Amino acid sequence: MEERKILYSAIQPTNNLTIGNYIGPIKNWISLQNDYNCFFAVANMHAITVRQVPAELRQKTLEVIALYIACGVDPEKCVMYVQSHVPAHAELCWVLNTFTYVGEMERMTQFKDKSLRHAENINMGLMDYPVLMAADILLYQTDVVPVGLDQRQHVEIARDIAQRFNNAFSPTFKVPEALYAKIGAKINDLQDPAKKMSKSAENPNGSIFLSDDRDTVIRKFKRAVTDSGSEIKYDPETKAGISNLLSIYSAFTGKTVAEAEADFAGKGYGDFKLAVGETVADKLFPIQKEQARLLADKAYLEGVLRSGAERAARAANKTLSKVYKKIGFYQL
Ligand code: TYM
Repeated sequence: MEERKILYSAIQPTNNLTIGNYIGPIKNWISLQNDYNCFFAVANMHAITVRQVPAELRQKTLEVIALYIACGVDPEKCVMYVQSHVPAHAELCWVLNTFTYVGEMERMTQFKDKSLRHAENINMGLMDYPVLMAADILLYQTDVVPVGLDQRQHVEIARDIAQRFNNAFSPTFKVPEALYAKIGAKINDLQDPAKKMSKSAENPNGSIFLSDDRDTVIRKFKRAVTDSGSEIKYDPETKAGISNLLSIYSAFTGKTVAEAEADFAGKGYGDFKLAVGETVADKLFPIQKEQARLLADKAYLEGVLRSGAERAARAANKTLSKVYKKIGFYQL
């Protein structure tokens, strides 16, 4: 891999991925894959911070890899792998734990949210989650991390940890930058546009899953909560529902928000919601078909993962061995 900058991102193989996961990070991955050396992981070690059904976790891991490829991530150009296949992630996480303060982790918004939602299981992993994510990113000397806005705090703590380590020893880690989609860095829930669209939403009508069939997609958009008034105009402050739908439409058509508004000038909310639903359904169908085709070819997917794990481990172990040397671990 020559002189290109490094791009790193990952998704947890939990629940069903939504169009938020696609619009926020994955679309950016696809447009940047020719310009960066890219690493895309399936974050199964993060996933177990909340209880998972083992057979489902195993299956979803393959589904997510197949989805990356079906969305247009090119396995010839990018390294795609499963986080647990590269032991350096857990190893660096342990070292970085000693450069992270308990108070910082207790203040993380996602930790606080998840502690409320999983009050019966506030395990150490849940709290340590951002440190593992920092290890993911820092192992690859990453320049940019394309994520949705909900990951902002986690990328910031990764930067802090990198700087802290670099200052304690000497420059070891590249300090990464988060990269957000221009449109759609935060796609909101269709039933409650003040909230992020989530894989684990209580009301499934609020989320469009990448696996939803055409009728379901259109039905959910038809039921989407809109705002008072009748104009189709982008104004997240006063028209959160309509603005969210405009963002989704722009992301799926490649049009600017102004062009999207122009498409619906003089039209009613009903027509608009139907058009957004049809646009999204049209786009999802070929992705679903390709994902199903890939999932039927397990040998191919395992080949991608095997080669991905090897290439990822090679890059990761370089950083890990530098770290071990700096902190004084006796090496043979
Ligand atoms: P996860 O699995 O929750 O989400 C995967 C990615 O999707 C983005 N996203 C959204 N973007 C826009 N609108 C939404 N409604 C929306 N919902 C989710 C997330 O911001 C994320 O980019 N901790 C990470 C996974 C991870 C990771 C990493 C990411 C592990 N290690 C290293 C980057 C670098 C997570 O749980 O994402």
